[in-house]
Amino acid sequence: MANPVYFIGAGPGDVDLMTVKARKIIERADVIIYADSLINEAVLGFARLDAEIHKSARMSLPQTTAIIAGAVKLGKTVARLQSGDPAIFGAIQEQMVALDEKGIEYEIIPGVSSLFASAAALKRELTLPEVSQTVIITRLEGKTPVPEAEQLRKLAAHHSTMAVFLSSSMIDSVVEELLAGGYLPTTPAAVVYRASWQDQKIIRGTLRDLAEKVKASGINKQALILVGDFLEPGTGRRSKLYDENFTW
Ligand SMILES: C[S@@+](CC[C@H](N)C(=O)[O-])C[C@H]1O[C@@H](n2cnc3c(N)ncnc32)[C@H](O)[C@@H]1O
Repeated sequence: MANPVYFIGAGPGDVDLMTVKARKIIERADVIIYADSLINEAVLGFARLDAEIHKSARMSLPQTTAIIAGAVKLGKTVARLQSGDPAIFGAIQEQMVALDEKGIEYEIIPGVSSLFASAAALKRELTLPEVSQTVIITRLEGKTPVPEAEQLRKLAAHHSTMAVFLSSSMIDSVVEELLAGGYLPTTPAAVVYRASWQDQKIIRGTLRDLAEKVKASGINKQALILVGDFLEPGTGRRSKLYDENFTW
């Protein structure tokens, strides 16, 4: 028998980027709980008219768990929608533990992460031969602590492709850490705001000017910071592109 609870990666925003599997589950779900701060409400257009819908942005873990447990008890199918892919900063671990404790089974449906929607928006490959074969997915330490060995300035020493989630509101500190860790000020950097949404915005620059550009744009959330030479293939021969007076 199919599991009654599904953690679903709803993708980065554009509903067409949701998987067919995710859409089929949403179409038959009795109960839908979705992270309303990041998920496009248009996904609810696939839901049954009589589906019970809950927004989770202001809910606590016990509250969402209680809704899920109550629905499962009544034999209902629950779709728990997460933004992007649930495995990346999806906070599903604690949700799964809460369900494990109640003996409730679940399945995870992967989704398109905002990382990949951002790379697509930038029309760039994250793993370029002879440039970078490593992608670091990380965040700046905020309320959530980051292990000492994974502090941004330590990771910066690798000079690899880096995707910094959950940190655009702290862009000054991000740049400061990356420079302190060894990236050059001329390292290409970009911020993608609401990748795949209608109002998607892209800011390109270098570590020298990215923070100023981001602050001038007013972007401080729902944005991914991408850093590395993959953004400028052919940076082996640096050109006017990195001249301080160059404007995009
Ligand atoms: C709680 S995390 C969720 C990430 C999600 N699981 C994923 O795979 O994209 C939220 C962070 O993801 C990034 N993010 C989510 N959606 C985004 C989008 N459409 N465009 C750019 N960044 C996005 C931002 O850094 C945001 O602060």
